[in-house]
Amino acid sequence: MPREVIVLEDVVKVYRVGDIVTYGLRGVSLKIYEGEFIAIMGPSGSGKTTLLNMIGLLDKPSSGRIYIDGVEVSKLSAREIARVRNLKIGFVFQFFNLINRLTVLENIEMPLIPRGIPRPERVERAKEALLLAGGELSWLPKKPLQLSGGQQQRVAIARAIVGNPSIILADEPTGNLDRASTKTVIQTFLELNKRGATIAMVTHDPEVANCTQKIYIIRDGMIVGVREPDKSRCVLYTQ
Ligand SMILES: Nc1ncnc2c1ncn2[C@@H]1O[C@H](COP(=O)(O)OP(=O)(O)O)[C@@H](O)[C@H]1O
Ligand SMILES: [Mg+2]
Repeated sequence: MPREVIVLEDVVKVYRVGDIVTYGLRGVSLKIYEGEFIAIMGPSGSGKTTLLNMIGLLDKPSSGRIYIDGVEVSKLSAREIARVRNLKIGFVFQFFNLINRLTVLENIEMPLIPRGIPRPERVERAKEALLLAGGELSWLPKKPLQLSGGQQQRVAIARAIVGNPSIILADEPTGNLDRASTKTVIQTFLELNKRGATIAMVTHDPEVANCTQKIYIIRDGMIVGVREPDKSRCVLYTQ
C-alpha cells in the first residue's frame, strides 16, 4: 500500500474581507499518495488555488485538518511549518514569481540559503536543477526578464526543485506558455515524478491534465469528481 503523503480532512477556508465572507473551500477531503502525479481542474473561482495554498502550507484552513507525511500541520509552530515547507515542498506558479532584480542563479539558489548550505554547493545544485528543468547554464548570470516566458518557467521549476522536495505543487504552470514550453514543463514533471516526487498540478488544459495519473474536479469549493486521464490525449502526444 503506498504511503499517504498529503491528507486533507474536511478542510474549509473562509475569506473575510471587511463584512464580506467568501468560501474558498467548503469541506475538502483528499488523500495524495507517495509518487502520485495528480491534476486539479475546475472553473475559475472554484477554489483550486486555495486548495494548493492549503496543501503547500502557504495559508491556514478555517477548519479541518491537514497532514503532511502523517504529521498534523496545525499542531506545528509557525517556525516548524516554515521548515516543513522549505524542506518538503516546491512551488511552481502561473506567473513564475521570480525576483526580477536578482539573477537567475540567485533566484534558483534561494531555497538553499535558510538551510545554511555553503555557496559553492548552492551553485552546483542550482546548475543541476536548471539542467533538469530543461534550462541552459548560459542563463545563470541573466535577469529573469531577459528570458522568454517559457525560459522563466524553467528557472522557476529549477528553484522549486533545487532543495530536492518530495512534494511539488504547481498552480497553472503552463497557463502562460506556448505549446513547446508546455511540453518541456510536462516532460520535466514526468521525469521528477519518475524520480519519486509526488506532484499536484492545477490546470485548465485537458491535454496537460491528461499527462497525469488522476484528475480531480473541483467546483464551488468542493471536489465533485475524479477522472481517469486519457493518456493518448496528453500534450506530449498531440500536435
Ligand atoms: N485572499 C482572498 N480574499 C478573499 N477572497 C478570496 C481570496 N482568495 C480567493 N478568494 C475567493 O475564494 C474563491 C476561490 O478562489 P481561488 O482559490 O483563487 O479559485 P481558483 O484558483 O479556482 O480560480 C473565489 O471566490 C475567490 O474570489
Ligand atoms: Mg487560481
